[in-house]
Amino acid sequence: MFKPDFVAAAPAPAPVPLTPAPLMPAPPPGAAADWTVPERWDKFTAEDHRVWDLLFARQQERLAGRAVRDFEDGLDVLRLGHGGIPRLSELNARLEPRTGWTVVAVPGLVPDEIFFDHLSKRRFPAGNFIRSAAQLDYLEEPDIFHDVFGHVPMLAQPRVADFMQKLGEAGLRAIGTGALHRLARLYWYTVEFGLAREDGALKIYGAGLASSFGECGFSLDSAEPGRPPFDLRQVLRTRYKSDAFQRCYFVIESFEQLLDTFAGSDLPALYQAVESEGDLDPAEAGEPVQA
Ligand SMILES: [Fe+2]
Repeated sequence: MFKPDFVAAAPAPAPVPLTPAPLMPAPPPGAAADWTVPERWDKFTAEDHRVWDLLFARQQERLAGRAVRDFEDGLDVLRLGHGGIPRLSELNARLEPRTGWTVVAVPGLVPDEIFFDHLSKRRFPAGNFIRSAAQLDYLEEPDIFHDVFGHVPMLAQPRVADFMQKLGEAGLRAIGTGALHRLARLYWYTVEFGLAREDGALKIYGAGLASSFGECGFSLDSAEPGRPPFDLRQVLRTRYKSDAFQRCYFVIESFEQLLDTFAGSDLPALYQAVESEGDLDPAEAGEPVQA
């Protein structure tokens, strides 16, 4: 799982370091070097499974007609609504033959290097816990419902699967050049909070929206946020908030548009180019797209 809440300010020019770079935190006890842990599905309680079923039923009803077809198809082929928290082994048996992706269990948020390394190898890290019934709409960290229900259906689509792997590779490169805060904005405004136009209507494809009871409606129906057309340069310049509903949702015309733009862009050159242009407030990111 990944919560890209980096400081949005541009990185300072790199001075000669006076102290060694901080070491990446060690994995917690019981986790492997890549922070994965045994799934231990048997440790989930009946209450945990009840929470999953409650969230699943509520969110599927809420999403009806609001999500892109690829998301709905992914839910169907992965059979995520089979009852109770899915076993990752069973989920992977359906996911891996389709796109080569697997879901791996991690104990919580993982370091950026670890997260993007997993993506680059077509592994999606999912939190090995679920929220309590008393906190259905409040999450300090993404849990298995957000990670599996929100993200995995789209990973069953070959175009999105390829895009996510390339994002992983781009993330690792961005870490190496101090540009991760730029790449994080692309991740944020597509993978987490992306909207798409489909058959003339706005639909959800971002996991942060697909798994959120409140924001999935807000993103499509509210007059408050802007919905500018996807523009990679604008996305890289636009700040975001990770602790409130977004004030801006970028709209792609198709996944082909997103992939073609990504594949045809020199990201390191763009990172450099936008440094001199300054950041944008999400409310100023562009003209809204009419729903
Ligand atoms: Fe997420």
